Amino acid sequence: MTDNTAAIIVHEHTRQFHLTNGRISYVFHADGQGKLINLYFGAAVPDREDFSYLTEVTHSPTTTCRIPGNLTYTLERMRQEFPEYGGGDYRRPALEVRQGNGSTLTDLTYAGGYRIIAGKPRLAGLPATYVEHDDEATTLEIELIDRPTGLTVILQYTIFRDQPVIARSVRITNGGGEPVSLERVMSLNLDLPDRNYTMTEFAGAWARERHPHTQPLHYGVQQIESLRNASGHFLNPCAVFARPATTESQGEAIGVAFEYSGNFDLHAEVDTFDVTRVQVGINDFGFSWRLAPGETFQSPEALLAFSAEGLTGLSHAFHRTVLEHIVRGPWKRRERPVLINNWEATYFDFNEDRLVDIARTARNAGIELFVLDDGWFGARNDDTAGLGDWRPNPRRLPNGLASLARRVNDLGMRFGLWFEPEAVNADSDLYRAHPDWAIRTPHRKPSHGRNEYLLNFADAAVVDNIFEQMSALLGSANISYIKWDMNRFVSEGYDLSRDAEHQGEAYHRYILGVYDLLERLLTAFPELIIEGCASGGGRFDMGMLFYTPQIWCSDDSDAIERLKIQYGTSMFYPLSTMGAHVSITPNHQTMRSAPLATRANVAAFGTFGYELDLGRLSDAELDEVHRQVAWFKRYREILHTGDFHRLIAPYGNEKAAWMVVSRDRHTAIVGDYRLLITPNGAFTRLALRGLDAGLTYKVDCTGASSIAGRSFTGAELMRIGLVDSDASCGQMDDVNPLGVTTDFSSRLFVLTAD
Ligand code: GLA
Repeated sequence: MTDNTAAIIVHEHTRQFHLTNGRISYVFHADGQGKLINLYFGAAVPDREDFSYLTEVTHSPTTTCRIPGNLTYTLERMRQEFPEYGGGDYRRPALEVRQGNGSTLTDLTYAGGYRIIAGKPRLAGLPATYVEHDDEATTLEIELIDRPTGLTVILQYTIFRDQPVIARSVRITNGGGEPVSLERVMSLNLDLPDRNYTMTEFAGAWARERHPHTQPLHYGVQQIESLRNASGHFLNPCAVFARPATTESQGEAIGVAFEYSGNFDLHAEVDTFDVTRVQVGINDFGFSWRLAPGETFQSPEALLAFSAEGLTGLSHAFHRTVLEHIVRGPWKRRERPVLINNWEATYFDFNEDRLVDIARTARNAGIELFVLDDGWFGARNDDTAGLGDWRPNPRRLPNGLASLARRVNDLGMRFGLWFEPEAVNADSDLYRAHPDWAIRTPHRKPSHGRNEYLLNFADAAVVDNIFEQMSALLGSANISYIKWDMNRFVSEGYDLSRDAEHQGEAYHRYILGVYDLLERLLTAFPELIIEGCASGGGRFDMGMLFYTPQIWCSDDSDAIERLKIQYGTSMFYPLSTMGAHVSITPNHQTMRSAPLATRANVAAFGTFGYELDLGRLSDAELDEVHRQVAWFKRYREILHTGDFHRLIAPYGNEKAAWMVVSRDRHTAIVGDYRLLITPNGAFTRLALRGLDAGLTYKVDCTGASSIAGRSFTGAELMRIGLVDSDASCGQMDDVNPLGVTTDFSSRLFVLTAD
């Protein structure tokens, strides 16, 4: 085993495959029946020719056996790589294929076919991890064959050199003579040897997305899923399986994330022998994919990570993977612009001059990008009309978009624009011309959401039309950024462009159409930054990040709620992906009033921006905004590329804290938030993490602090902690005579190594 290389060690004699990079080992073999059996996944172990002692072959009463006369070989006891129903395995299968005779049984076996590829091949039409140089990863493809149908299944595994992460996907080719229908295709199956895990899912709703919830695994199936054809606000397509004693800084954890934006199924099934089967893939509800002879189906990709250093280690693995192997294009390494968005400032009530006023005030505060949100197009005067007509609204922008873009550019700012490409209002020219382009099931009433319908993105003609409209507009003015919104979910999924036998494909083809449009836009306009959005964070997933390097985290811009949302989001997604804005007070979603400093101190741990009418702020507040923007620009690179550590969770606590440490560990930024005051409270210290114990750090603070200006070793700051209980949290003005700060106060500490 070589450290820090993505090695795939094959032992032909034992038909064993060992994927390792010095941090993790993933081992499986093909047994005597040609079945792929998982042997180990976890921290790296030295290679050996034969790990098969890790499979137990024993007689278990009532099990169903495959080999005549043999009562010990039963698939029910096997930890399989890609299980099917039949042959004695009664757990959920990874594959179901309906054949001409009505059966869905297959019996995939390995016949010696595999190949090792330097680097990582692209997955046609789908988001997937990638490498810039072939030495960053190694890929294994294993071929399985079902002889009666002629189906070939290729399991693809990529191990990365620098991360404890494995990417997996499945490719199925119909090599037989008759069409078949894929009814269920999981992208990843992982059978773990016991059930001693907790499962953490990230759940919520509009305005309170991705709060972590943890429960011990129990017998049977525990599942998270979406049937909205979007990852959705409710459950995010990722989960953590951790040993019960695992904390942020220690213990074992396995993370699973699906790089897909449609209907998903992520579940763990604990079986009768205490094996935990984890699966993730396209939800099989309503799914079927007709595969004619010679055709191939490519599944989306899933990511699997292992950490022996607690949840933080797991987050760092996913964050690095997103930054290095998912986000791409010129904005992968560029600093993201600080933006101002007009939505909460004006809603639908704006004209060109009002927008330019907002942009000018923002420019004076150092803001770099002006984003024009909903309402600029078609006959969009409220949310009942206009979606689908992507040309300037003559009532609001009589001079067109180019004029506004030029005036914004002349201020020295970039210009950005909101779209909801997948949506259409019945009151639109597009709908009047093509009512059959909106998704509906024949003879049934379509439902609306926010007065809108979704276009059938499974139909290439629809995607072509929207591409033509958007690219004409993007070519007509200097537009650097688009906000890609999506404000309702698919409800009566049907593809009017295809016949009955292809209807099970409608949802997945829709998502492929979304990816296709994103890819075409990025190819035509490679400098564009696309920020994802779906009524806030309703489509925050690894799949979208392949196209949109940042995603609006939530429509909830209240700083205190945002702590909870961004804290949960950070388990899988790095700060540079989280759209986060400072908004007005009282907040429009919660009516809560948090200090301007706190609103900025939370948004700084994301892609920083503002979403309010700066013209309504006092001069003192504008000065403060100016200082905040300058502060953020100074530390933006560290915030977006450093290592993030969660220190105190905001759920049910009166405090919250997190920090970022630069890659060289010379600078650290600590966000220290007081949710509710504790009068006459304790003397507290905040134990920091990720610093260099041997370095000495000078402490600066954006608010008042008794330790500002003093120096401490990394060892002191991590083992004793940063004294954070002095009453001066926030601005001195916030401190009452008893020495108590206000609710919702906060401050940022910057630690710089001498
Ligand atoms: C969604 C988005 C908001 C805003 C509105 C505009 O709700 O999440 O940020 O763009 O649409 O209609």
